[in-house]
Amino acid sequence: MMGDLEDLLEKAESDLRASQTQDDILAVRTKYMGRKGLLTALLRNITAVPQDERAQFGKRGNEIKETLSGWIEAALTEAGARRKDDVLLKQKLDATLPGRRTRYGRIHPVTQVRKEICDIFSGLGFTIVDGPEVELEYYNFEALNIPADHPARDMQATFYIDDGIVLRTHTSPVQVRRMEQMRPPVRIICPGRVYRHDSDVSHTPMFHQVEGLLVDRGITFGDLKGILTYFLKEVFGPDTALRFRPSFFPFTEPSAEVDIQCMLCRGKGCRVCGQSGWIEILGSGMVDPAVFKYVDYDPEEVSGFAFGLGIDRIALLKYGISDLRLLFENDWRFLAQF
Ligand code: PHE
Repeated sequence: MMGDLEDLLEKAESDLRASQTQDDILAVRTKYMGRKGLLTALLRNITAVPQDERAQFGKRGNEIKETLSGWIEAALTEAGARRKDDVLLKQKLDATLPGRRTRYGRIHPVTQVRKEICDIFSGLGFTIVDGPEVELEYYNFEALNIPADHPARDMQATFYIDDGIVLRTHTSPVQVRRMEQMRPPVRIICPGRVYRHDSDVSHTPMFHQVEGLLVDRGITFGDLKGILTYFLKEVFGPDTALRFRPSFFPFTEPSAEVDIQCMLCRGKGCRVCGQSGWIEILGSGMVDPAVFKYVDYDPEEVSGFAFGLGIDRIALLKYGISDLRLLFENDWRFLAQF
């Protein structure tokens, strides 16, 4: 009978060795020491032990019970620690890994160019002014010497909102509004959105213009040339070649369009400049006396020049963008390049 006790201890020991988790160990405990456990049963069966061995059997039985309890406790503690290590290992944080970068927003290329243009003219003493995008036909056309039914209205494909109300087709109406409000000298630029119903690689129904106006005594075409030359060399670099080409606008007389030498082919002729070597960049001219009449300025006393340019086109040329529409799709992968 004593041999049974020793065998049992040996078996329990090997069972414990084979146990990994706390659950395994608890199962061993139940197997041997539970109410129906093997050791419990053996000890309960003490009546089957011969009388003279009973005392020794009982003593050894209790020792074994204590030993086994001790082992089980120790095994449980050890398994618990192992489990904690496992969890910690799984959750291990590598503090040397790079962090997640926050993506910063960028200033839209059109906004960058607009700011650059405004900065240049601010430096020349021009004030930046604003006007409505939904405009009276009167300011968009009539007061700019473009009467109703005049063919010049066809130059700008207009969105009509209502009778007498349009989405402004250029920022020129702002100059009329401004001149109505103040006497010369006037020195303003008006950046803003304008609308024409056009849409292809080089036209979008909404685009951005900057209009400039300078009115004072004794202003000549030489002032126009000087200021625009300075401006374009600031934007495109001091070596940029320019040419002033006679043109027509109803609100200026004489009028000139300004071309810059194509920066891609340096004047040799390529796809971007339509093989001409030149790129049209702005419209300009001396304010037509007829416009001064609308705002009650005396053309005998004052003169001035005006110019208008597309901000988006300048952004295309400056950054070598091939399709104007990319500017307005707001794909951050595109915009993040500038
Ligand atoms: N307003 C004209 C346009 O949008 C540009 C321009 C402005 C031309 C001022 C001459 C003088 O086409």
